[in-house]
Amino acid sequence: MAALLEVEGLIKSFGSVRAVNQASFTVQHNSITALIGPNGSGKTTLFNLITGYLPPDQGRVRFAGRDITGVDAGRLYRRGLSRTFQQARVFPQLTVQENLTVAAGYSWGQLFGRRMSKADRQRVGQLLEEFRMAHVADLFASELSYGQRKLLEFAAVLMSSPSLILLDEPTAGVNPVMIETMEHHIRDRYAAGITFLIVEHDMNFVMRLCDPVIVLDQGREIFAGTPSDVQSNPLVLDAYLGG
Ligand SMILES: Nc1ncnc2c1ncn2[C@@H]1O[C@H](COP(=O)(O)OP(=O)(O)OP(=O)(O)O)[C@@H](O)[C@H]1O
Ligand SMILES: [Mg+2]
Repeated sequence: MAALLEVEGLIKSFGSVRAVNQASFTVQHNSITALIGPNGSGKTTLFNLITGYLPPDQGRVRFAGRDITGVDAGRLYRRGLSRTFQQARVFPQLTVQENLTVAAGYSWGQLFGRRMSKADRQRVGQLLEEFRMAHVADLFASELSYGQRKLLEFAAVLMSSPSLILLDEPTAGVNPVMIETMEHHIRDRYAAGITFLIVEHDMNFVMRLCDPVIVLDQGREIFAGTPSDVQSNPLVLDAYLGG
């Protein structure tokens, strides 16, 4: 079977900065693949190119066997490719429960008119339980801690029934207990067949959870392998130490 995600020769420049420079890699079905690399190596830009937030200058992206290069983010979300952001993006002025509802594709009008299907209402309830957020369901997202907001963003992404989830630094700025919770939910969904591509600087987290690990430096893949291969690879050490 072909890979779930195939990135081929992606290039993206911002003025004279070539943020992504001929990046090529694949993500296999039902893997938890890590994408690591020094600050500024192009990880977030790659996520933006893959998920339709930015058009590439060159290169192709295929998802589930279809060319999705340049397809907009909303359409990809509905096709099962979703992502979280390095700075968690939730609607601060909506409650926790409303954030999940909107993520299921309901308009704000429907949200307040309460015209939700029973199935979606149940899913919101289930996610609130599962993520232990039932007691904060009616709080505004702006009232949550940063870690809780990241968790809510992750829960919201699940409302779209994705097959591939891209997480941009899920543990950054999150306390250790919340990191464990996040890890638990990723493992759960992985066991249910979801594929993950995770950008993460916390190497312990990567080593525990991810295989394979793809290493990016200056906008291109320099190595891919198991966590232990990556840790002992001189190219990778150079990329990090060379800054
Ligand atoms: N919208 C933009 N306009 C101009 N330059 C940008 C833009 N987005 C990213 N860059 C530049 O592209 C390069 C790659 O940035 P990117 O955010 O993709 O890196 P990253 O690997 O995600 O870094 P970090 O680990 O710090 O999050 C950097 O030099 C950055 O300054
Ligand atoms: Mg980034």
